[in-house]
Amino acid sequence: MKSEASHKQGAAAGTKVTVLQSPMGLRSILSSLVAFFVVVSTVSLLVDRGQEGQVQLAVEQHQHQEVQLKKPAAAIVDEQKSVDQSSLRSQGQEAHAQWPSELLDDGDGDGEECNWSLGRWVYDDASRPLYSGLKCSFIFDEVACDKYGRNDTMYQHWRWQPHGCNLPRFNATKLLEKLRNKRLVFVGDSVNRNQWVSMVCMVEASIPDGRKMRVYNGSLISFKAFEYNATIDFYWSPLLLESNSDNPIIHRVEYRIIRADRIEKHASIWRDADVIVFNSYLWWRKQKADMMMKVMYGSFEDGDAKLDEVEMVDGFEIALKKLTEWLGTNINKNKTRIFFAGSSPAHSWASDWGGDDNKKCLNETEPIQREGYKGATTDYSMMDKAKEIFGALEPKGIHVQILNITQLSDYRKDAHPTIFRRQFVPLTKEQIANPSGYADCTHWCLPGVPDVWNEFLYAYLVHK
Ligand SMILES: *[C@@H]1O[C@H](CO)[C@@H](O)[C@H](O)[C@H]1NC(C)=O
Ligand SMILES: *[C@@H]1O[C@H](CO)[C@@H](O)[C@H](O)[C@H]1NC(C)=O
Ligand SMILES: *[C@@H]1O[C@H](CO)[C@@H](O)[C@H](O)[C@H]1NC(C)=O
Ligand SMILES: *[C@@H]1O[C@H](CO)[C@@H](O)[C@H](O)[C@H]1NC(C)=O
Ligand SMILES: *[C@@H]1O[C@H](CO)[C@@H](O)[C@H](O)[C@H]1NC(C)=O
Ligand SMILES: *[C@@H]1O[C@H](CO)[C@@H](O)[C@H](O)[C@H]1NC(C)=O
Ligand SMILES: *[C@@H]1O[C@H](CO)[C@@H](O)[C@H](O)[C@H]1NC(C)=O
Ligand SMILES: *[C@@H]1O[C@H](CO)[C@@H](O)[C@H](O)[C@H]1NC(C)=O
Repeated sequence: MKSEASHKQGAAAGTKVTVLQSPMGLRSILSSLVAFFVVVSTVSLLVDRGQEGQVQLAVEQHQHQEVQLKKPAAAIVDEQKSVDQSSLRSQGQEAHAQWPSELLDDGDGDGEECNWSLGRWVYDDASRPLYSGLKCSFIFDEVACDKYGRNDTMYQHWRWQPHGCNLPRFNATKLLEKLRNKRLVFVGDSVNRNQWVSMVCMVEASIPDGRKMRVYNGSLISFKAFEYNATIDFYWSPLLLESNSDNPIIHRVEYRIIRADRIEKHASIWRDADVIVFNSYLWWRKQKADMMMKVMYGSFEDGDAKLDEVEMVDGFEIALKKLTEWLGTNINKNKTRIFFAGSSPAHSWASDWGGDDNKKCLNETEPIQREGYKGATTDYSMMDKAKEIFGALEPKGIHVQILNITQLSDYRKDAHPTIFRRQFVPLTKEQIANPSGYADCTHWCLPGVPDVWNEFLYAYLVHK
């Protein structure tokens, strides 16, 4: 059953509002959740000790790493010259108004501009991958596919080629210079963490050993490049608002509760950032047809605690509106640039591309080549919604730039870890016999698709 796909978006009609006469009802729901948390956390800390020794503040320094130089520039320039000239001509004209001229590829001064979200994947084993997953000492085991036995490597060699232009060539040194004395923070869920890991791997090979480190502090993970006094952080906040899923480790709660008017605790972490990349998508998707989001307003102290239950997508809207309000009153538009990473599609329903649902994305080795493909289970409307809500900030001169990476990622059924990742809980015999049951078709192998998301981010930061 595709409960995700059949779920009708934005059905506000089903919204239930419960105003509690006495806060006791709500209090007991919450305290039983807390009790549940404590039990689960004890158990899973025992099970996960290997992985999550990191929960406590830990400092790692990498002394032992080689500096890895990239391919000679000439070869890359040649790759990028192989643009389809006719589509360049046909698209250049009307696209001209959409993008400022600084977004051009370094070596490509002919004034053509285009829409990066429309393009195709080109097999290119000369200029891709941008780094080695095996050599990146900051990679996470959940996305380290080659380390965990994925030995078909084609998935690492695809370059995203927009129609009619080239993405600016990624240059780690240039990015670090741009981030000198600055702080870039990724805020969101595990897919956004995937993008953060990608970014760290994209820059870390350019930084000598002993001049970089990673620090874990609860929901915050910091990567620092000393030479540049540059910080690249990830902050766990999957629903953006304060919620019962805020623990970076123990968050698989069946009943999700957001606090509609509480964001300050999270916001205090990114308030001073120079660049913020938010994302939020997966946690608002229905896992069961009847899944609803609980929304808490007010507080017990003030005696106005109120619990609503809304459709998941309506919860998304509540969260984005609160975030927008916060940004509108707190962001210094002269200092901080804000991005919102578009929805990252999963490939859990192989029938979307004519495959067998029982296989999920197992054994897929090539992208979907059919131009215009949009997975039936991928929700494009939430990104439209986000764009619309953030639009309220434009009159204040605050622009939230959407990284529109949904469709390009939708083509990449071949790029997920599937079974080639670290399993933090040992697999059972039954699981091993049925790999599609535990295959990860949601996150992305690195090197891989999130590198392109970061190429978009790079292009905005360095060229604009
Ligand atoms: C890029 O093209 C898509 C599809 O036509 C469109 O929805 C989107 O608004 C365009 N983006 C820009 C920045 O023009
Ligand atoms: C790739 O791994 C599979 C097992 O997962 C193995 O059977 C196969 O021989 C390997 N191929 C290569 C080229 O190493
Ligand atoms: C990357 O940027 C740095 C600093 O701007 C520059 O010195 C270097 O030549 C660039 N590398 C390539 C391959 O373009
Ligand atoms: C180092 O970077 C931080 C931002 O992450 C900034 O607040 C601080 O002023 C910088 N230090 C110096 C010496 O510029
Ligand atoms: C860890 O984060 C907390 C805020 O969440 C902050 O108060 C504390 O200073 C941080 N610790 C370090 C060592 O950075
Ligand atoms: C932002 O910059 C503009 C123009 O330089 C200036 O007038 C304005 O006061 C600045 N705003 C803030 C909040 O610093
Ligand atoms: C995936 O490929 C492996 C090795 O070729 C094979 O044993 C397995 O049956 C395939 N799985 C599926 C679901 O097709
Ligand atoms: C994102 O790009 C796709 C095409 O790749 C387009 O269909 C969609 O409308 C765009 N969404 C937004 C919010 O720009």
